[in-house]
Amino acid sequence: MPQMPTLTFENGDTLPQLGLGTWKSEPGEVGAAVLQALQLGYRHLDGAFIYGNEKEIGEALQKAFADGIVQREELWVTSKLWNDAHAPDDVKPAVQKTLADLQLEQLDLYLMHWPVAHRPGVMLPKAASDMVPLDELPLATTWAAMEQLVQEGLVKHIGVSNFSVPKLRALVDGAAHKPEMNQVEMHPYLQQPELVAYCQEAGVHLTAYSPLGSPGTRPGDTLVLLQDEVVGTIADAKGCSAAQVLLAWALARGTAVIPKSVNPERLAQNLAATDVALTDDEMAQLAALDRHRRYIDGSFWAVEGSSYTVSNLWDE
Ligand code: A2P
Repeated sequence: MPQMPTLTFENGDTLPQLGLGTWKSEPGEVGAAVLQALQLGYRHLDGAFIYGNEKEIGEALQKAFADGIVQREELWVTSKLWNDAHAPDDVKPAVQKTLADLQLEQLDLYLMHWPVAHRPGVMLPKAASDMVPLDELPLATTWAAMEQLVQEGLVKHIGVSNFSVPKLRALVDGAAHKPEMNQVEMHPYLQQPELVAYCQEAGVHLTAYSPLGSPGTRPGDTLVLLQDEVVGTIADAKGCSAAQVLLAWALARGTAVIPKSVNPERLAQNLAATDVALTDDEMAQLAALDRHRRYIDGSFWAVEGSSYTVSNLWDE
């Protein structure tokens, strides 16, 4: 089994850098994928309430603990607060629901999923009235409720997801307990050097989601990261797959990375990316691929008539 690199938090806790993503892992398939991943040696699971599969993941975890595949203490579990539970009174019940579904007493990491607030009960907004403007329910207010979760021992670490530099800076500067993680889309077509530099300066870790370019999310899209020629040439030269090159790139940049798969061969292949070492020249070739391309562009929050737009999501 390859040696797993880790990221270290300020209290000394360590996060295995490569984890299993579970977005789009459907109920009916996610449990088997999680068990398989744990058997292969994955020790970091990334999930979220909105993925709709935490109950089945919880059942798989119980089986893994009972069968001695892994012990709770050896495993890092991350989940995320959905946009409809940003009101301070809704934060604790949201994490309690996730903990009940996962059948866990504590999460290792809990993230504010998006810098976007919905009315309670709204999973995906259809109208401006489904949204709560951030000046009515500021991110800092939600954050203060997340800080309480650490105090109460429900979660060990807290962070955010999909935060731009200005939004992250505002929380870091104003918070009693600064965000310890920002989980964002990140791959060679979306390298975000300013965000990486700011996070390094502020001591905030990064997790790269959609590291393979989230194939299939945008049918008909001609810009397919896994088919990039430079990535393919490097993969051929190293005798590995394009996916492994992309994951090795994320690991080499010092970010955590959470490829999703429900396929046993690809689960194993992705984990083995920790064995792939890219040369400086290969890193430079990959650095030249940046296209500032978001596959998950956040346009679903830019509901007409609301205060949310794609540009204020990513630029402000
Ligand atoms: P599957 O679950 O059938 O393996 P991302 O993490 O960027 O969103 O990518 C996830 C998508 O990429 C899923 O559709 C997943 O399908 C597929 N995938 C995961 N691992 C690999 C791999 N090693 N090679 C090709 N496709 C992969």
